[in-house]
Order: sequence, then C-alpha cells, then structure tokens
Amino acid sequence: MENCVCITGGTKGIGKAVAACLAEAGYNLLLTYSSDSETAQATGNELRLQYGRQVHILQADSSAPSSIEIIYRYLTEQSLRLDAVVFNAGITSRCPFEELALAEWERVFFANVHFPVFLLQRLTGLFNEGGSVVFTGSLMGIQPHSVSLAYGVTKSAVHALVKNLVKFLVPYHIRVNGVAPGFVDTEWQKEKPAEIRRNIENKVASGRFCRPEEVAEVYKMLIENNYFNGEVIVIDGGYSYK
Ligand SMILES: NC(=O)c1ccc[n+]([C@@H]2O[C@H](COP(=O)([O-])OP(=O)(O)OC[C@H]3O[C@@H](n4cnc5c(N)ncnc54)[C@H](OP(=O)(O)O)[C@@H]3O)[C@@H](O)[C@H]2O)c1
Repeated sequence: MENCVCITGGTKGIGKAVAACLAEAGYNLLLTYSSDSETAQATGNELRLQYGRQVHILQADSSAPSSIEIIYRYLTEQSLRLDAVVFNAGITSRCPFEELALAEWERVFFANVHFPVFLLQRLTGLFNEGGSVVFTGSLMGIQPHSVSLAYGVTKSAVHALVKNLVKFLVPYHIRVNGVAPGFVDTEWQKEKPAEIRRNIENKVASGRFCRPEEVAEVYKMLIENNYFNGEVIVIDGGYSYK
C-alpha cells in the first residue's frame, strides 16, 4: 500500500504548484490532466527528480463521466490510499449569454460540479484516517463574473458544496475545505490581453497577480490542519478592498 494525494488538473498552474508544495512536504502524488500529455510527463519527471517522491500521472478528463472509473481503477490497481484529494481541474465557457446552449452550460456544470461529487462518492472508502478534500473555488464564485455566467455560477456551487458536504463526509472522517483564489499567474491568466491584465492589477490592493506557490501553501495548510472543516479561504491580494 502506498499513500498519495490525488490532484485533478495537477500538471500545470495552481495544481502543479500544489503538487510541488506537497511533494516537498513528503507526499506522493497522483496528478490527472486532460490533453497535454507531454507537459504532464515533464511535470511528473520534474517533481520526481526534485523531491524524490512517487508521482503518478493519469489522463482523466473531468468533462467525461468515464474518468470517474478510470481514476478509481487506477487507485485500486496501484494499491494507492488517499491522504487527500484536491479537486482543482475546472473549465469555463465564454459563450455570450444570447448564444449559450444547454449542452455548453451542462458541460461546465459537469466538469466543475458533478464530476467531483460523483468521483468523491466513489473514493470515500480509499481515504486514510484524517484524510481531507480541498476544492478549487474562485473569487468569481463570490463576485459576479463579467464574462462567463457558467463559470461564476459553478464556482459558487463549488463553495456551497464545501459547506454542504461536511455533514455527509463525517461518517468517513473526511474533512472538506476550499480555496477561492483571485487572479493567479497561470497559463489561464497569461492568455489574457495585456490591457485586461493591467486592469486586473489595478484592482488588486497588492498590485499584482498571485504567484501559484503562494496559493499552494493554503492548500497544504487545509490538508494538514485537522480543525479546518467546511471553510472556503479567499486569497485575492485584497481585490475587494481597492
Ligand atoms: N488562474 C487563476 O487566476 C484562477 C483563479 C481562480 C480559480 N482558478 C481555478 O483554478 C483551477 C486551475 O486553474 P489554472 O489557472 O491553474 O489553470 P491551468 O494553468 O490552465 O492548468 C490547468 C490544469 O488542469 C488540467 N485540466 C484542464 N482541463 C481539464 C479537464 N477537463 N480534466 C482534467 N484536467 C484538466 C490541465 O491539463 P491539460 O492542459 O492537459 O488539460 C492542467 O493540468 C481551475 O479550477 C480554475 O477555475 C484559477
């Protein structure tokens, strides 16, 4: 039996930073991704080399229901037990409201909300005593999103899930928390035009985007501090206060 932390969307950005932070602290990892196998393998090699931990890499698209069984089977076949699960993979849709189709709305809901619920339902028996779950929410689940209705609403649902799941996970002794990042400098944000990035920086009291390593420390704290339960921690550099 080997223990690990499973991070969905763990090969880039916030997920990768959480993976590095946890590997440094001594955890083995199972990192999922959806499409970029080259980067995923490179991340695995980098973390193994740097921290000397077991790092499993698994292609499992959170928009596909079949990925639930793929992850469950991988964990059981490899005899992996869970110290924690980080539900980090999330998708968006920038479709204008007038053109938004039901299938597109459901696609975002499936990946961001339904997938973690039903994966968690499958995984409860694989957690170690004292295990926990951390969701990646978003500041945009608190402040209305200016572009994506589906993204903002699903991230609000993620925050609600954190609170509502606490009671249902008590029988399994699993804690559940969330992190609601503001604007973190990952590929997701780097794709934005320079002018939009400047507008964001001007709204943040700290005057800059958050570094992925800064947000990663919050996940580690939520995993390791046994008295956090049902909490969503906002880390936004003072976005709301400027
Ligand atoms: N960056 C921010 O400012 C910010 C702020 C608040 C919340 N968030 C949230 O943080 C999470 C990660 O964002 P990020 O900025 O770190 O993004 P990122 O740098 O683009 O990294 C995304 C990671 O998730 C994987 N991924 C993407 N779609 C997936 C899917 N359908 N199934 C499984 N894995 C998938 C990617 O792998 P592949 O490329 O191989 O698919 C990659 O490993 C998301 O939930 C996002 O909503 C981000």
